[in-house]
Amino acid sequence: MGSPHWKRLCLLLLAGLTSSLLLYSHYRATVEAPGSPRIIASGNSFKPSADLEEPEPSRKQPSPCLHSVMARAKADPKFREIFHFNTPVLMWDQHFTLETWNRLKTRHVPYGWQGLSLAVVGSTLQLLNASANRQLFDRAAFPGGCVRCAVVGNGGILNGSRQGKAIDSHHLVFRLNGAVIKGFEEDVGTKVSFYGFTVNTMKNSLISYEEYGFTQVPQGKDLKYIFIPSDIRDYVMLKSAIQGSPVPEGSDKGDDPQKYFGPEASAEKFKLLHPDFLQYLTSRFLRSELLNTQYSSLYMPSTGALMLLTALHTCDQVSAYGFITANYEQFSDHYYEVEKKPLVFYANHDMMLEAALWRSLHRAGIITLYQR
Ligand SMILES: *[C@@H]1O[C@H](CO)[C@@H](O)[C@H](O)[C@H]1NC(C)=O
Ligand SMILES: *[C@@H]1O[C@H](CO)[C@@H](O)[C@H](O)[C@H]1NC(C)=O
Repeated sequence: MGSPHWKRLCLLLLAGLTSSLLLYSHYRATVEAPGSPRIIASGNSFKPSADLEEPEPSRKQPSPCLHSVMARAKADPKFREIFHFNTPVLMWDQHFTLETWNRLKTRHVPYGWQGLSLAVVGSTLQLLNASANRQLFDRAAFPGGCVRCAVVGNGGILNGSRQGKAIDSHHLVFRLNGAVIKGFEEDVGTKVSFYGFTVNTMKNSLISYEEYGFTQVPQGKDLKYIFIPSDIRDYVMLKSAIQGSPVPEGSDKGDDPQKYFGPEASAEKFKLLHPDFLQYLTSRFLRSELLNTQYSSLYMPSTGALMLLTALHTCDQVSAYGFITANYEQFSDHYYEVEKKPLVFYANHDMMLEAALWRSLHRAGIITLYQR
């Protein structure tokens, strides 16, 4: 611990060094020497790679379900090649290794950490140290062993659908973005186990759908939040949410996370999708033609797509409600609009590709896609 490199690194950190590149180069000079000490400074340390436990597979196998996602996927000639069920879904403190930093700093968000501050990413990940941060849910809580999930998109197909009871009968219910519930209970149910978002989509939903009653992000004792790390602001907000303190910097500076996520501030309440998982999903399930255009760096799967694919990699059975179907033109953009509005196609998503994926997953019996 007494090496000059080490002292220099500490001084640099204490001086509030913000350039992560410079910091990193000092770090590398220090730790890549054989037998060098582990770096711990200013609450910011890489985990030595050797300490990283094998990521727990997202599901225990074999599943006791008659028709599980995994069994159906393995029986399908196309999807057998696409699914890798051992891909880690979530990211937690032990992923903060030099190896991971090196790999992810070459990819832009949401697939990596290019240009992000080492201090911000590191200090956020360090807080994700609860066992609840390593898995979406605890399988021990479902003694039957066959965990059935509903993922509820916000599509107009749900208006008048009366699917609320069917949705709530699932063990776990995923919702996202402008998930209006009040007044639509019969159509969409009330249960919320997970709410998925990026800080951008969450805050935009609160503005755009306020007139339809989306005045608050769903909150509740048993509800967990799934952060999609699409920007540095997601890491910053996540850190503040766990600490229960106002956002100290960046575009959300001054925001009180408890306004969004309720009074309970603890690591257990929050999950963070792994950038490698997002990369895997995009390259294997939703590799859009948009990636070959000048907009490639803007492209990412929609929040709904990411939630549905997250459920597919963690639950045993998955039903999708309110997702785009072949006859989407018959329905309004969202179930809560009073007058029909056409579906909005955002330039950063590929809804037609997503529609084709849901159709073929449904045909293969891997998901049950609600259609009418
Ligand atoms: C997680 O980290 C926090 C802050 O460093 C610490 O107070 C807490 O005891 C840790 N929890 C676990 C389960 O290690
Ligand atoms: C949704 O359903 C209600 C009740 O059936 C209807 O009044 C409303 O116009 C519908 N909204 C859209 C956008 O179709």
